[in-house]
Amino acid sequence: MTAPLHPNVQDLPTSGRPEPVLSVSEVPSMLRPAVPSDTPALIALAIATGMFLPHEVDPVREVLDNCPADHRVEVWVDDPTGMPIGVVYFGPDTMTDRKWDLWMIAVAPDRQGQGIGGELLRFTEAHVRTGGGRLLLIETSSLTKYDATRVFYGKHGYAEVACIPDFYADGDSKVIYAKRIA
Ligand SMILES: CC(C)(COP(=O)(O)OP(=O)(O)OC[C@H]1O[C@@H](n2cnc3c(N)ncnc32)[C@H](O)[C@@H]1OP(=O)(O)O)[C@@H](O)C(=O)NCCC(=O)NCCS
Repeated sequence: MTAPLHPNVQDLPTSGRPEPVLSVSEVPSMLRPAVPSDTPALIALAIATGMFLPHEVDPVREVLDNCPADHRVEVWVDDPTGMPIGVVYFGPDTMTDRKWDLWMIAVAPDRQGQGIGGELLRFTEAHVRTGGGRLLLIETSSLTKYDATRVFYGKHGYAEVACIPDFYADGDSKVIYAKRIA
């Protein structure tokens, strides 16, 4: 059994400011569940962002090919070619009381900064809420190339609750963000 995640976890913001709650009926039509034939495009998308190293991509491929039933991979498709240009992967941590994890979020480099990542995050939170989730965690790296990514999480009401020094490599710490969903 590990120590409590955060001494003030009950006080974590549900969000930084009032946010519209997305109901399932309001899911943007550009979103759909991933299908196995999306795997090569999603691997290419992850690599194109430059944020996922080759050794991190193989486990992603495994997940996309054999996604557990209670996990969700959702893709954003608004390109005439039908190619996914955004992806989010999340699911419940069944070893905990209603904690969920977001394991991957990525938007094609030429479509970043257009609100797609925010929509993917809003969809995830709506799904976690509907599924009875209590807490959503996201892990990322401390490297400067992830500065904008960490700002993105902060803008969406995620609080930095932990940092594990030298986790990924010397000088590359794991930073954990959390948001109360309910
Ligand atoms: C992080 C990411 C998913 C955000 O998606 P997005 O569609 O670019 O984000 P949105 O357009 O909804 O939100 C934009 C905000 O996110 C932040 N942001 C993060 N990365 C950004 C980028 N590459 N370009 C523009 N804004 C970015 C900015 O703070 C921006 O706010 P602003 O418009 O006020 O400047 C996306 O940029 C991405 O795929 N990055 C590379 C992969 C990555 O880091 N994944 C997470 C690994 S832990």
